[in-house]
Amino acid sequence: MASKVIKNGTIVTADLTYKADVLIEGGQIIAIGPDLKGDRVIDATGCYVMPGGIDPHTHLEMPFMGTYSADDFESGTRAALAGGTTMVIDFALPSPGQGLMDALKMWDNKAGRAHCDYSFHMAVTWWGEQVFGEMKLVTERGINSFKHFMAYKGALMVNDDEMFASFKRCAELGAIPMVHAENGDIVAEMSAKLLAEGNTGPEAHAYSRPSQVEGEATNRAIMIADMAGVPLYVVHTSCEEAHEAIRRARMQGKRVYGEPLIQHLTLDESEYFNADWDHAARRVMSPPFRNKMHQDSLWAGLSSGSLSCVATDHCAFTTDQKRFGLGDFTKIPNGTGGLEDRLPMLWSAGVNTGRITMNEFVAVTSTNIAKIMNMYPKKGAVLVGADADLIVWDPKARKVISAASQQSSIDYNVFEGKEVTGLPRYTLSRGEVVFSEGAITGPEGHGEFVARAPGTPVGRALSTWKELTAPRPVARAGIPVTGV
Ligand code: URP
Ligand code: ZN
Ligand code: ZN
Ligand code: ZN
Repeated sequence: MASKVIKNGTIVTADLTYKADVLIEGGQIIAIGPDLKGDRVIDATGCYVMPGGIDPHTHLEMPFMGTYSADDFESGTRAALAGGTTMVIDFALPSPGQGLMDALKMWDNKAGRAHCDYSFHMAVTWWGEQVFGEMKLVTERGINSFKHFMAYKGALMVNDDEMFASFKRCAELGAIPMVHAENGDIVAEMSAKLLAEGNTGPEAHAYSRPSQVEGEATNRAIMIADMAGVPLYVVHTSCEEAHEAIRRARMQGKRVYGEPLIQHLTLDESEYFNADWDHAARRVMSPPFRNKMHQDSLWAGLSSGSLSCVATDHCAFTTDQKRFGLGDFTKIPNGTGGLEDRLPMLWSAGVNTGRITMNEFVAVTSTNIAKIMNMYPKKGAVLVGADADLIVWDPKARKVISAASQQSSIDYNVFEGKEVTGLPRYTLSRGEVVFSEGAITGPEGHGEFVARAPGTPVGRALSTWKELTAPRPVARAGIPVTGV
């Protein structure tokens, strides 16, 4: 079996920075150290060698709001690799009444063309005995995370009783529940009022989803998870109110993870006031972009550790698809792209400015995600025995982001015109060089499903604590304890 060696680079992990070569064989790292020899040399002079990015939140070819997101597993994972992301976790989304295993089969089929490794979260979009039963089968297939939408009333939304039932089932199975935290009842009511008053443009999307609806729902989900005795992962945390709830919970010992998106960190609400309808509509997503106060809060969360991961929620729609909502903002498909841009944008806006360190960059784009999602150190690590999902990162390479040169199949880019410094020179997926100096060099279908077992160390610790502190009857002299 031919080997490869990455030479002359500096390894950057979540906790160390040091000079060493990396020897790869059979898709894995087999040695790390000085003066290693291999059949092929990959030169990393002037570069950092880091774990490939993991995007824990994508929607590729997702059926949503009367259409499908435009990037599928082929174009989406090409975009991922071109930006240094070597794994995506997408959401299998049962339609109301559809079985979970049936939905999983559909997502298995879609993912066949993936250029990089992938896994799935399973969405709980309705509740019943079948869902309860199939959650076990899903975990046996290597899916340990279940997503709940607290928004999108009348479509994907679940209510508190359903969430509580599902969270308790997650606790039993050793899985982690995830939430899209926005109060869907309030959003529906505010949207109807705005429309009735003649607020039909994309800016009304932002008016209909103020930070309070996110803060309230985040806090509610945290409390429900605490009562169910299970950790919680909050997707696309965009505002101070939600971050505050997460921060407070973590300081109380609750196991809660927050995930800001690169879009919320770097783009603000002024995008919705652009005079060009298309410009504003292309940026419609939930939650909406916020102001600088919220952005500063998210950055502080990343550097202080109260927020854990940076994702994209890549859910790209073309301009034509966005135009479904001309005259009615509630019909604009919600979602933005970012898979190719997450790492370069975070490096440029975060590491180059001193807001986060290189090691924190690796933690929030890869290592923390691998740990929370229970695939560390197979993924998210530069260690002997880990998959060789690696990036050779050139901190001096520059480009101006443009739809004209992107891998995504849509006709615009929400980061258009942003100059980034820091780009992958090479991206390796299980030891294969799949992106090299500006071009995709790996075949589609190279990606493999990554099974993630239930039972993270944190989940097990929380179960132990909850069991120890569970309500117990008080033994009283002369009164027998019955019913146990
Ligand atoms: O607007 C968004 N975020 N679209 C994708 C679906 C979701 O809510 O994550
Ligand atoms: Zn969402
Ligand atoms: Zn999403
Ligand atoms: Zn391809």
